[in-house]
Amino acid sequence: MNEAEEFDFDAVVDRGGTASHKWAKYQGRDVIPLWVADMDFHSPPEVVAALHERAAHGIFGYTHAPIELEAAVRASLLAEYAWDVDAEWIVWLPGLVSGLNVLCRAVGAPGDQVATFTPIYPPFLSAPGSMERTLLKVPLVCRGGRWEMDLDALERSLTLRTRLLLLCSPHNPVGRVWSASELIALAKVGYRHDLVIGSDEIHSGLVLDENKRHLPMATLSPDIAGRTITLMAPSKTFNIPGLGCSFAVISDPALRRAFCRAMDGIVPHVNLFGYVAAQAAYENGAAWHRALLAYLRDNRDLVEREVGAMPGLAVAHVEATYLAWIDARQTGLADPTGFFEEAGVGLSDGAEFDGPGFVRLNFGCSRSLLAEALARMRAALSSAPRPCR
Ligand SMILES: Cc1ncc(COP(=O)(O)O)c(C=O)c1O
Repeated sequence: MNEAEEFDFDAVVDRGGTASHKWAKYQGRDVIPLWVADMDFHSPPEVVAALHERAAHGIFGYTHAPIELEAAVRASLLAEYAWDVDAEWIVWLPGLVSGLNVLCRAVGAPGDQVATFTPIYPPFLSAPGSMERTLLKVPLVCRGGRWEMDLDALERSLTLRTRLLLLCSPHNPVGRVWSASELIALAKVGYRHDLVIGSDEIHSGLVLDENKRHLPMATLSPDIAGRTITLMAPSKTFNIPGLGCSFAVISDPALRRAFCRAMDGIVPHVNLFGYVAAQAAYENGAAWHRALLAYLRDNRDLVEREVGAMPGLAVAHVEATYLAWIDARQTGLADPTGFFEEAGVGLSDGAEFDGPGFVRLNFGCSRSLLAEALARMRAALSSAPRPCR
């Protein structure tokens, strides 16, 4: 049996009755849920076994991160990115939405500004306001079907009150793996304007293009490392987001102190099962992970082929993540998300990402379910009245 066959990503797993956020939304309706970013796959068998074993122990008291987990994270960062991280740089978090909010709270003062590129994962848009900061949105630009950062526009919009830049790398929802030259150019802006860079790298384990590599912002140079707070997690890569285990990497002691102070008394500890799953994933999940990427790559190709051929839709190439960002503006539909929901496919509404007229499709599911959803979308579009222009 080869590696890809060892794990059955084709299996259609019934998630009914598990209070799954993704599936409960359309309970009792014939709508295929391809919205919130979790996958319909079993986690690596080693993760499931480790959870069983820990549950069998039967005592679930307060728990800190095991040193074996810290060693596994450090080994993974070294192997993947040649990034040699000290154990003390790691700050454990129960989730990265918390991490984004803590970041905004830790940097600058009320009234300061936080910049980010849009469209973007919605908590990037809400965290600054929740933490009494203002939000500076800089639109990404789509050139020849490829999304890029407009650094001139960023630099023109920065003010003396801009203290923090929130980066999503790889980017949710546009699926870009930022190249070394793009990141270096961005880092230079950060240096010139003395910005702290909050780099959310939760999707770094999901690079689909075989000729691309994720590059952590903090590995670019010692200066950039000193101004960067990196957010990472095994949750997307190994499909364990419900177990709430993630971490920040902060090499600068003053930034780390500010971050920990902003968490103090508010952010709870990581759930012990989160630690157990994370350790098993980093230590033993590599074969599953390779097979997952191969499966997602084929799903991505199917989505790009099918959606690209649907009238009025265009999809940018998904270099990373299992999320396709689809431009539906040429369909003339006032509410593309509602239209596809009526057709039996539940997508995320681009407006929530500051991308009205777009929808986001999660292809982290079995091929048969994905094919059915795409067939429904195609059929609905071909029977929709043509827009008057
Ligand atoms: C870029 C990004 N950051 C953070 C999160 C959520 O992180 P958590 O579930 O750890 O709060 C997501 C989930 O989709 C995401 O895409």
